[in-house]
Amino acid sequence: MGASLYEPINVYKPLAPDIGIVDGPFEYLTVGGIRMPLPFTTRMTVVRLANGDLFLHSPIKFDETLAKELHGLGTVRHLVSPNQFHYAHIAEWARAFPETISWASPHVRQRARARHIDINFTRDLEAGAPEEWRGKIDQLLFPGGYFKEFIFFHKASSTLIVTDTIINLELDKISEPWRTAAKLTGMYHPYGEIFFGMRLPLLFQRGKAKSAIGKIHSWQPQRILLSHGRWFDADTDEVIQRIFGGPPR
Ligand SMILES: [Fe+2]
Repeated sequence: MGASLYEPINVYKPLAPDIGIVDGPFEYLTVGGIRMPLPFTTRMTVVRLANGDLFLHSPIKFDETLAKELHGLGTVRHLVSPNQFHYAHIAEWARAFPETISWASPHVRQRARARHIDINFTRDLEAGAPEEWRGKIDQLLFPGGYFKEFIFFHKASSTLIVTDTIINLELDKISEPWRTAAKLTGMYHPYGEIFFGMRLPLLFQRGKAKSAIGKIHSWQPQRILLSHGRWFDADTDEVIQRIFGGPPR
């Protein structure tokens, strides 16, 4: 069986007031500038802020109809790169919506430059949430060495928004070699795990990991959104406990 999408794609799927997701088209792994025939899916999260501005977490490939739909929901304002691997479509959205602010994750500028992807990042994400969304969304920098990423929490809906920190691939929706890789690393539904590349760095960053995991527990998420695979909307306490361990003492 080949890879399959989270249909329908490129449409806003509301999950709770002021928050929803948009499942995207296939993306392809690029190695040394060459696009490999290895499709995977990715997902964007959209949050509507108190002033009507929209926060686009990990924007998927730009799509005109989707842009119009989002424009009807609010003002497309914040284009967020949560880690240095999720940024490639920000420039397309920024061109369509020139009043947007593009938020950089650590090392993303260098990565984009090295790949000749021209993005004008206007602001940098920091450990604490900026004034623009502090009232609605909290955030933290999750350690993981090279793979570190910003994790967000939408307060009103108790939704944890991760990108690659948790991967939960559905084996029947992916093709080889992803299927074997998912099985070997344990990153598949319903077991979803911390991205394998983060696991070793986490061991060397115990202090930072402890504080990030403590904060995730303190948020008490009721839903976990993620970019690759099936997201979690049930038994979230157990999922958090299983993936991150108990609250640090
Ligand atoms: Fe990713």
